[in-house]
Amino acid sequence: MLRRLHADQPDSFAFTPANLEWARAQIAKYPEGRQASAIIPLLWRAQEQEGWLTRPAIEYVADMLGMAHIRALEVATFYFMFQLHPVGSVAHVQVCGTLSCMLCGSEDLIGVLKEEIAPEPFQLSPDGKFSWEEVECLGACTNAPMVQIGKDFYEDLTAGKLREILAAFARGEVPVPGPQNGRYAAEPISGLSALKEFESGRDQYNATVARAVEMGDTVKRIQGDEVPVLKPRKPGARTTATAATAADETAGQSRPAMLDAPRDGKADDLKRITGVGPALEKILNDLGIWHFDQIAAWSDAEVAWVDANLLRFKGRASRDGWVEQARILAEGGETEFSARVDKGEVY
Ligand code: FES
Repeated sequence: MLRRLHADQPDSFAFTPANLEWARAQIAKYPEGRQASAIIPLLWRAQEQEGWLTRPAIEYVADMLGMAHIRALEVATFYFMFQLHPVGSVAHVQVCGTLSCMLCGSEDLIGVLKEEIAPEPFQLSPDGKFSWEEVECLGACTNAPMVQIGKDFYEDLTAGKLREILAAFARGEVPVPGPQNGRYAAEPISGLSALKEFESGRDQYNATVARAVEMGDTVKRIQGDEVPVLKPRKPGARTTATAATAADETAGQSRPAMLDAPRDGKADDLKRITGVGPALEKILNDLGIWHFDQIAAWSDAEVAWVDANLLRFKGRASRDGWVEQARILAEGGETEFSARVDKGEVY
């Protein structure tokens, strides 16, 4: 498909102050001279702010990163996730037209979009609220046919259900994403045939839908000051594989101070702490934890927060006594384990 910039462009673009601060933090993640590596997240945030990617926005991001405008234009025009034309002010609908969805009725869904929004993809609806396009497989084939609206998937659709969803969006509502035929996730429509013990006591929504409901940003324009966007989890609720934010705190937990990047660009080797391997070190760095003195300063509530946000390594901070080890290491001392790491006995 030929991807060109829209003929009508706004005069200028600027990140909101909060988005600008966020963008600078992204750029700081990369070493000097490699700032261009931040182009995808910055272009994406510009699109999240405006709804589509304008030429002034592309050039603004290029200038922030010290790149020639043409290099940023190459990126923006290459990736289909970047919308180079104005999209509906309420929602842009991406309907999957690939095999599973096509066999299960995506042509009916496209018919609805043509009737309810506009005859052609990327055309705005008469009220300017909606637009649509057909896309390739979105990876939810077991729940075909499906559409992505804004950031979330609406699955197991029928033509009638899609009409209802569009009407709800038009009224300013955000329907709950996920399966629309009563399925919990991707199990048989008749119910689980194995692992039935997991059926009782499960949460109201599957993890993906629960996260979408908590985030509430399905079709939201992002101004950058939405954080914290996550509501506290109910005790015992499932956790999805997403790094937590400042708001992801529950009773007895407190998010410790984090850094956007290691001080002076030099992180401590956190793998010198018992139980911290490369994967766990990456999770810590992604959270903003780079130094022994950060860990050494954690209170019990902060250890509890970290324990709860280590994804598949939950509970390791308290289990392995990170704070005690980090206090020794932050002061330049050695633990028995760090000495073994330094001698190359532990990998
Ligand atoms: S074929 Fe539609 S999501 Fe895969």
